[in-house]
Amino acid sequence: MYDETVKVLENRPLSGGHFVLSLDAPRQAPAVRPGQFAMVRIFGRSDVLLRRPMSIFDIPAADSPKPGSPRAESQPRVIQLLYKIVGRGTRLMAELTPGDKVGLLAPLGHGFFEEDYLPQAHECDEILHVAGGIGIAALLLPAKHLAEAGFKQRLFFGARTKEDLVGVKEFKPHISAMLLATENGSAGYRGYVTRPLEDYLTKHTNKKLLLMVCGPWAMLRATVELAKRFRQYCLVSMENRMGCGLGVCLGCSIRVQGTGHEAYQRVCTEGPVFWADKVVWETGNTRESGLGIRD
Ligand SMILES: Cc1cc2nc3c(=O)[nH]c(=O)nc-3n(C[C@H](O)[C@H](O)[C@H](O)COP(=O)(O)OP(=O)(O)OC[C@H]3O[C@@H](n4cnc5c(N)ncnc54)[C@H](O)[C@@H]3O)c2cc1C
Ligand code: FES
Repeated sequence: MYDETVKVLENRPLSGGHFVLSLDAPRQAPAVRPGQFAMVRIFGRSDVLLRRPMSIFDIPAADSPKPGSPRAESQPRVIQLLYKIVGRGTRLMAELTPGDKVGLLAPLGHGFFEEDYLPQAHECDEILHVAGGIGIAALLLPAKHLAEAGFKQRLFFGARTKEDLVGVKEFKPHISAMLLATENGSAGYRGYVTRPLEDYLTKHTNKKLLLMVCGPWAMLRATVELAKRFRQYCLVSMENRMGCGLGVCLGCSIRVQGTGHEAYQRVCTEGPVFWADKVVWETGNTRESGLGIRD
């Protein structure tokens, strides 16, 4: 993990108030593993003191050598973040232009580390990525990684409107099929994505599946219930509010199975990715619990 000041290369607007921010991070990019995140600091703004946590969406491959050119870089150096404007911090991020500098603490957290799930993945017929809204940002890198390893994958992606269905183009090369859903019916299935997911699980009870899920709390909980009902493996990436991102402030703690100190784990350090059956899925286990952080 490195705490660096990095340069903005591009801040590309997408639909629905989403952006892809490309940062020149030559020390951090090669160290990133799927499912990890970064903390972004906007300089010169005393009204946004805390860094904002963002999943690492993509690490574009290093440039391939051009004929006759000196040795090309073999290490990636760009970190891409896919974000949505929801408040002060993300609004300021949207104003960044090429050449601006931001503080970047990365890579952070225990992501979708293959040593944790490969034995289960090898038992499975298919990996299902289940994304809710901006949760899609946490799933692209694991999907790329799993595609390289030859796993069959499918995406279930739900959002409010079609403008929120971002990142699909990047996902497509790595999966065999996708199911899109919007709450207002502007694209794909009309309603929550958990409904077509339930249909799929019902039709394929003979398949062993590993679900990788990221999205809002209610969607996570509904998906975890389905995984439990259909006895499928399930990994969740949690997005709690964070103070430090480093395991110090304890503000991101969630309830997990266990007693005493073992009943709490930090999303920023032990997570953000957990096996679903490790987490206590009762209402009040997230930032609404009173451990909330504000600046
Ligand atoms: C590990 C992790 C990875 C994340 N990855 C991404 C990502 O890839 N792209 C992205 O756009 N966002 C991501 N988020 C959420 C992102 O951190 C928040 O949207 C952001 O911090 C909001 O900052 P703000 O100043 O714009 O909003 P604020 O003014 O602080 O809050 C505005 C609104 O956003 C809500 N909000 C604030 N923090 C969060 C949060 N952590 N989760 C959900 N809602 C929140 C608030 O409750 C409020 O309603 C991630 C969060 C975590 C913990
Ligand atoms: S954000 Fe401070 S301990 Fe996790």
